[in-house]
Amino acid sequence: MSQLNILTLPDSRLKTVAVSITEINDDIKQLAQDMLETMYAAPGIGLAATQVDQHIQLVVIDVSEEKDQPLVLINPEIIEKEGIQTHEEGCLSVPGIFAKVKRADQVVVKYQDIDGQHQELAATGLLAVCIQHELDHLKGIVFLDHLSLLKRKLAMKKLEKAEA
Ligand code: NI
Repeated sequence: MSQLNILTLPDSRLKTVAVSITEINDDIKQLAQDMLETMYAAPGIGLAATQVDQHIQLVVIDVSEEKDQPLVLINPEIIEKEGIQTHEEGCLSVPGIFAKVKRADQVVVKYQDIDGQHQELAATGLLAVCIQHELDHLKGIVFLDHLSLLKRKLAMKKLEKAEA
């Protein structure tokens, strides 16, 4: 197991669109383990492969209090969305910036687990937010992209100042 380097804005590699995974081999399993370790250490509740410069459709999530319910989603796709919720989001690729984002309140996501089994998961609340946030990363989208231009510019300025 090893911790991976997390890309941060304005790194343009975060805009890469991830390709689907055709074979869940040992490399993919190792990457999922390393991503979980990296996410827990950060600490964070979700991490997409995009954020560790691997442009394949793999995300890891754990929104549990005890950090003992890891979820590995391979080739995830949201197949149902309902309602609206607004949640203050942050992102390991956008350190120190938090902003309210409007998303679906409930989602159903289909995916393959680490054993290649096809699964469907219905999620609400924070888990639904996290799934939508992480799946965005696979499309090259970060949560700031959901904000108004003005709010996005302010966030980017704050980010630049923090890095300077
Ligand atoms: Ni993120």
